[in-house]
Amino acid sequence: KKTIDQTEVQDKTVLMRVDFNVPLNEQNEITDDRRIRMALPSIRSVIDRGGVVILMSHLGRPTGGAGDEKFSLAPAATRLGELLDSPVHFAKDTVGEDAQAKAAGLKAGEVLVLENLRFNAGEKKGDAEFAGKLAALADVYCNDAFGTCHREDASMVAVPQAMDGKPRVVGHLVAKEIQYLSDAISNPKRPFVAILGGAKVSDKINVINNLLGICDAILIGGAMAYTFSLAQGGQVGGSLVEKDKVDLAKELLAKSNGKLHLPVDTHCGDDFGNIAGCNKKVVAAGEIPEGMEGLDIGPETAKQYAEIIKGAKTVVWNGPMGVFEKPPMDAGTRAVAEAVADSDAVSIIGGGDSAAAVEQLGFADRVSHVSTGGGASLAMLEGKAFAAVDLLDEA
Ligand code: 3PG
Repeated sequence: KKTIDQTEVQDKTVLMRVDFNVPLNEQNEITDDRRIRMALPSIRSVIDRGGVVILMSHLGRPTGGAGDEKFSLAPAATRLGELLDSPVHFAKDTVGEDAQAKAAGLKAGEVLVLENLRFNAGEKKGDAEFAGKLAALADVYCNDAFGTCHREDASMVAVPQAMDGKPRVVGHLVAKEIQYLSDAISNPKRPFVAILGGAKVSDKINVINNLLGICDAILIGGAMAYTFSLAQGGQVGGSLVEKDKVDLAKELLAKSNGKLHLPVDTHCGDDFGNIAGCNKKVVAAGEIPEGMEGLDIGPETAKQYAEIIKGAKTVVWNGPMGVFEKPPMDAGTRAVAEAVADSDAVSIIGGGDSAAAVEQLGFADRVSHVSTGGGASLAMLEGKAFAAVDLLDEA
C-alpha cells in the first residue's frame, strides 16, 4: 500500500484515523500511552513536511447516555501535545461548529484532535452523511489505527470511500503491524509456535481453527484451558468455564493432530478475591478439587511450554497463562514470557492483556514486536482481511 511518507503533504490537510483508545484511571489519567506514542512517526511525517494533521479516534464504548464525558479524547490530546512538545488543538465535537472552525484555522505543522468519534451515532453505523462531513475536512486520508482495522466504522471505511479521488494511504504503525503479522502467518520460519491464553475459548475458536493449519504447535493456557479440560472429562472444580463451548473444544481436540498442547498441571486456589492469602496448591490438570479454581498453569506445564518455545523460530502469543496481575499466579505467564524473550525466534505479542503482561513483567524490549491491537491482531491470526486496509491506494 502507498504510505504517508510517499504522499505529498506540503500545505495539505491530512485526516488521520488513529487508535487513541487508551486506558484511563478513575481520575481520567492515561495509564498507558503506548498507542499515542506509536502514532507519532506518522504525525511527524506530515507536520515535518509542512502539512497539517486532523486526528480522529474513538475511545471506549460510549452509550449515548449519562457518564459519557469520561470517554472524552481531551486527555489524549493533552498527552499528544506533551509527546510532540508543541501545542495540539482540540475540538469539542467531530463535525460540528468547533471542529469546522478549528480545522479551517490550522496552519502548516499544526495538529488538531477531534472529540471521540463514537459520540456521534453515525460512527458505529458507518453513516455516509457523517463520513462525508469528516471527508470534507481534508485533502488526504491516512489510516494509522491498527487496533481498529478489524472494524468497519465510518472513519475506517465510509470516510476513505467518500474521499475517492484523493490520496488514501497507510500510516507507519498499520504498515509495520501488518508486515509482522502477515509475514508470520504467510511465511513463518519453523517451528512456528502459537501461545494462546485468556479467559474464553469462544474468543479464540476461529484463531485455533486457522492456526491448526499453519502452526507446528499451539500451547494453551489461561482459563480457556479448563473448558478443554472439561471436554476431556476432567474435574475443574470452581474454575471459569464455558459449558456451552465444550462440544466445540472436543471438535478442536479431535482435529488437533497432536498440535494442541494442554496444561499437565494447574495452580489453583480457594479464593479469587484474596489470591495472596488463600489456600493454594498445584494439582494434576483435570483434578481440580471442589471449592478450588484454576488460576495459573502449573510449574511442570511452564517447564514443558518453555522447552517448546526454546526450539521455536516464530512465536505468536495472545492471552496470559493465568492471573498474572496477582502473584504467585504470575509464575506461568512469567515463565512463558521469559522463554519467549530468551528465544531467538521472531516473537510477536498480541495487544491487550498479553501486551500488558509482557510490559509489566519487563520483557517488552526483548521481543520482536508488541502489537497495539487486541481484536485486530486476533482477526489477523484468524486469517481475516481488513476492508479498511484493502480500500487504500496501492503503492
Ligand atoms: C481495541 O481496543 O481493541 C480497539 O481500540 C477497538 O475497540 P472496540 O473493540 O471498542 O471496537
